[in-house]
Amino acid sequence: MNIILLGPPGAGKGTQARHLVETRNMVQLSTGDMLREAKDSGTEMGNMVAGVMARGELVTDEIVIGLIREKLKGDNKGGFIFDGFPRTLEQADALERLMQDEGKTLDAVIEMRVDDEALVERITARSTCAGCGEVYNDKTKPVPADGKCTNCGKKTEFTRRADDNEESLKTRLMAYYKQTSPLIGYYYAKKMLNSVNGLGTVEAVQGEIAGVLGG
Ligand code: AP5
Repeated sequence: MNIILLGPPGAGKGTQARHLVETRNMVQLSTGDMLREAKDSGTEMGNMVAGVMARGELVTDEIVIGLIREKLKGDNKGGFIFDGFPRTLEQADALERLMQDEGKTLDAVIEMRVDDEALVERITARSTCAGCGEVYNDKTKPVPADGKCTNCGKKTEFTRRADDNEESLKTRLMAYYKQTSPLIGYYYAKKMLNSVNGLGTVEAVQGEIAGVLGG
């Protein structure tokens, strides 16, 4: 199945995508991760988007559509998880065209609903293993006391994202409501929308998503 995880910053898209990769052999396509990689490796495009991302604004449609286009080529039996893409109506139309060109179909859109208060709490408490990208949370999933990542087992650094502060989060949330939330109506009209309660525990949300994917 090819699915979209749709939700505001901190809704848990990355956390759920990683679980689907591990349990269903799916491939996660996170435009946020791709852009951060470009930024960290200092490519021309990475340098161009660094400031935009730190402020919490959206990168241009042209750049992110180009990133996704490259990843869709080739066979992938487990299916793709689009995480953080599409984020505008133009990106949604482009995804439809790209999928058609590759002879693939989009099977479901899963909207993860979380209220703003919880989003702020989650984002400001997040850290990530620099080695493997495992996501932690000061409150719900603290970094182990021995400093070793529970996923890769390495003693590593746990980093905080440049845009995980209250100021950038305000801009990110505004971008979500203005530019991304119209996609909820767009996919509802296409009879592809499924909404899950993203406020539950990680396991409860996993269960709801499994229900959408047919167990
Ligand atoms: P991106 O990297 O996509 O960030 P985002 O959408 O803001 O989402 P996050 O990664 O912050 O949150 P998440 O939903 O994955 O939550 P997570 O699982 O980590 O985008 C970053 C930037 O890149 C954008 O602002 C933009 O500039 C640019 N960009 C990216 N894509 C773009 C596009 N298509 N177009 C234009 N620009 C684009 O969880 C968050 C925290 O909560 C963690 O600490 C986690 O442990 C915890 N948590 C997760 N689930 C639960 C739960 N159920 N209960 C309790 N805690 C939980």
